[in-house]
Amino acid sequence: MRPRHTSALSRLLSAADNGVSRNLTAAIADVSAPASAPLPTTAPLESSMFKLSKLSKGRSSCIVSRSRHLPESFKSYKGRLFLYKNPAQYLGVRVSAATFSTVAPPASNSASDSAEMAQVTGQSAPKNSAWAGSAGAGGYDLRSDTMTTPTPSMLTAIQSCSLLDDVFNEDPTTIDLEAHCAALTGKEAGLFVLSGTMGNQLALRSLLTQPPHGVLCDYRSHIVKYEAGGVSSLTGATLKPVAPKNGIYLTLEDVKANAYLDDDVHTCPTRVISLENTLNGMIMPLEEVKHISAFAREHDIKLHCDGARLWEAVASGAGSLAEFASYFDTVSLCFSKGLGAPIGSILVGTKALIKHARWVRKSIGGGLRQPGLVTAPARVAIDETFGKGPNGEGGLLRETHVLAKDVAKIWTDLGGKLEYPVHTNMVWLDLDDAKCPGARLEELGKEVGLRFMGNRLVIHFQILENCHFVVPRLEAIFKTVLGEKGKNSATFEGADGEASMYGAQ
Ligand SMILES: Cc1ncc(COP(=O)(O)O)c(C=O)c1O
Repeated sequence: MRPRHTSALSRLLSAADNGVSRNLTAAIADVSAPASAPLPTTAPLESSMFKLSKLSKGRSSCIVSRSRHLPESFKSYKGRLFLYKNPAQYLGVRVSAATFSTVAPPASNSASDSAEMAQVTGQSAPKNSAWAGSAGAGGYDLRSDTMTTPTPSMLTAIQSCSLLDDVFNEDPTTIDLEAHCAALTGKEAGLFVLSGTMGNQLALRSLLTQPPHGVLCDYRSHIVKYEAGGVSSLTGATLKPVAPKNGIYLTLEDVKANAYLDDDVHTCPTRVISLENTLNGMIMPLEEVKHISAFAREHDIKLHCDGARLWEAVASGAGSLAEFASYFDTVSLCFSKGLGAPIGSILVGTKALIKHARWVRKSIGGGLRQPGLVTAPARVAIDETFGKGPNGEGGLLRETHVLAKDVAKIWTDLGGKLEYPVHTNMVWLDLDDAKCPGARLEELGKEVGLRFMGNRLVIHFQILENCHFVVPRLEAIFKTVLGEKGKNSATFEGADGEASMYGAQ
């Protein structure tokens, strides 16, 4: 539970030694009300907060600021009300229908060099700790949603987790998480695994039996490009990467044209179809999954979903977790990407399959002794970031999709093109069209304290919570990049060969 207003006041005051709260009254006085409803500026602190809280109830427009640094368009994000002391030293109060809380001062050892502002965390981060939620490195890092840093409420959950042995299958916190995910997805059982890669590999190892066997998937799939060749070495399967005709997601037509169904001795029969959803932030619609699933069942082919970001598809309204999962034999879902947990993923499937996957997990050193330390924050990540409803109701993901579309619009309004449509939380800038090497974008980001990787911007919830810091800087960078286009046109050369998105590390 987030602390309510009574402790909010004392926490705010206890931040006085950080120089944060001294100007609170001034900060409140500096807040401009939406034209229709002036905010109280003279009432004592707590009642001001109450009134602010009431004021925000049921409103769709909750960001209020007189800061010249906040663009008009950012007055409309739900559930947040930011109060500015001054543009450089941010002081904020989060207001929502049910709770509000003070802002923690910037974590002193935050990985971000440019922490001009503290972020709304709900609880103060302990001094000299990185447990600062959005005030930490994640709030400035658009390279991936894996850069989200765990929140203080995850730390609280860790403090009350169970610490029993999961190789012996005795740890209540872990068993609870696995059962919860099985229930959410309508599957018989779940298995906590250390990473999305481990989830995919255990699934494929468990679904495949005896070579010759092949796995059909999108040519851009994580299992093809970014799992270090694990499918071949761990399962002996041949991958059949397929380019979807529509450029977005595989269709039944693509699958039919590429699956090996006969028993010709020359071929490697398709035994598994692996579908990634979302893939590069794009959604494979439920209807298409349904068609491919019917085809797979007809031909005795197993269906795996790399659902590292299935949460995003669900939160966008594409279908519930259980609806998607009903068409697959196995689904892996990640906690440590857009949901913000520090470590881990879950694999769900039948009891028999999960029993086998547990065995394989042990064989590759993935049996865990006291995983409550990581399964407790994973549960918080589901409840708070994805949300408690079956479609991500009450969570934060949906708003990140709105912001991603806004960011894409800023780019396209300036004349930029996109490599892929924005369905969820990823914005793919067409940097080739802009004649901009990825390294230039990264350099521009570094100058203002933002981190980029290649042409992909991932708008995760900590970027959302930092949107008033990040977005004006993004806009300025976009202007620079597109302004340089003419100058670079003659000399720009695209990269040769297929490069890893991650670059050399
Ligand atoms: C779609 C997808 N699947 C699987 C993974 C693997 O997850 P992990 O990095 O936890 O191994 C990733 C990682 O980014 C991913 O994007």
